[in-house]
Amino acid sequence: MKIIKVSDLKVGSKFTKPLYLDKDNIFVNANVPITESDIAKLNKFGFLEVMTPGELIEEGSQNITSIGWNDTPLSDPDKQHLKNVHFNILKHKEEFLRVYKEAFETVQLFYRKVAEDKTTDITQIRYAAEQIVDHVKVNPNFSFLLLNYHLDGYYLYNQVVHATFYALLIAMGLDYSRPRLVDLAYSSLLADVGMSKIPAYISEKSATLNEEEYKVVKKHPLFGYQILTKTYKIKNSLATIALQHHENYDGSGYPQKLRKQEIEEQACIFTIADNFSALTANRPWRRKFQPYDAMKTMISVTMNKFDLNLLRVFLNKISMYPVGSYVELSDGSIAQVLEANNAKMLRPSLVIVRDPDGRIPRDGGSYLNLVIENQMYITKNVDYNLTGT
Ligand SMILES: [Fe+2]
Repeated sequence: MKIIKVSDLKVGSKFTKPLYLDKDNIFVNANVPITESDIAKLNKFGFLEVMTPGELIEEGSQNITSIGWNDTPLSDPDKQHLKNVHFNILKHKEEFLRVYKEAFETVQLFYRKVAEDKTTDITQIRYAAEQIVDHVKVNPNFSFLLLNYHLDGYYLYNQVVHATFYALLIAMGLDYSRPRLVDLAYSSLLADVGMSKIPAYISEKSATLNEEEYKVVKKHPLFGYQILTKTYKIKNSLATIALQHHENYDGSGYPQKLRKQEIEEQACIFTIADNFSALTANRPWRRKFQPYDAMKTMISVTMNKFDLNLLRVFLNKISMYPVGSYVELSDGSIAQVLEANNAKMLRPSLVIVRDPDGRIPRDGGSYLNLVIENQMYITKNVDYNLTGT
């Protein structure tokens, strides 16, 4: 922890990690600018110092100006709202990338140690979970960034981190408190630790598994549960996702073939998140599903696997054309989905990334709420990835 004198704090300064009053109390979250009133409060209560494990974020490192951002207010309040949403996402992009990378590396380290039968510090996973929760609280539209982001490396670690973020999206839709969100993120990051005990020739096989190999893979929930409760002695409730994340709502899952309310809510949440992130990732034996196709599959073909109330919450949060995915509009322009519109799953709000003539719009994009602009409609989802968005 670095100690910072209150007299050295400046209005507008931000840090890569939270500012603490003492080791248990966060005063200002990571990446949140310090206000005049924050400094006044510290002075009023006689705090001379605060502390942070992070670094001061230098002005200009947010990369928002590089996309030609223009902060002139828009006359249309609905478009201004969408511009604010977009701005907030881009403002938090660097922090998102840092939190994602740290979680990925922490999961990688922990899972590898387990594979080598070495014990290691599980509190690092808890810390990564807290970091993710703190981030999603200030950047609730993170799925715009998450959908198209994977780090190079072993598939499983991206999968676990993606599923953890999506699980939090559902839990925020259910108004979970911060301690419940942290528990959910912690148990989600540990969900697939049992895979570390599956021989690599099976877990890393670049083709579909045969029946015998699949039988071995099906042991990973129980392995995970045993590792967490016996070796690491964590509470049963925190190992439930590891044990139950392949149970299906209709009883067709494994290892215990549990049904409906026999499966804990947090495991039902993770199953939805895990399925969506698995479908939207490339695997050696199949190309990834486009996000719209993944969502369509989940609400039709595989619907019985899920708790429908929770699936509806996920759909409300992410939309049928998932936030972050690209679509073509009836006038030929290309847009990225920015925000779901709960009542109209097929008519989300968008940021235009190419106009009908193929040009990039100025000022960081122009905005469209398809519920209001009802003369426009989505013609198809497109596989389009524009760097820098
Ligand atoms: Fe799994």
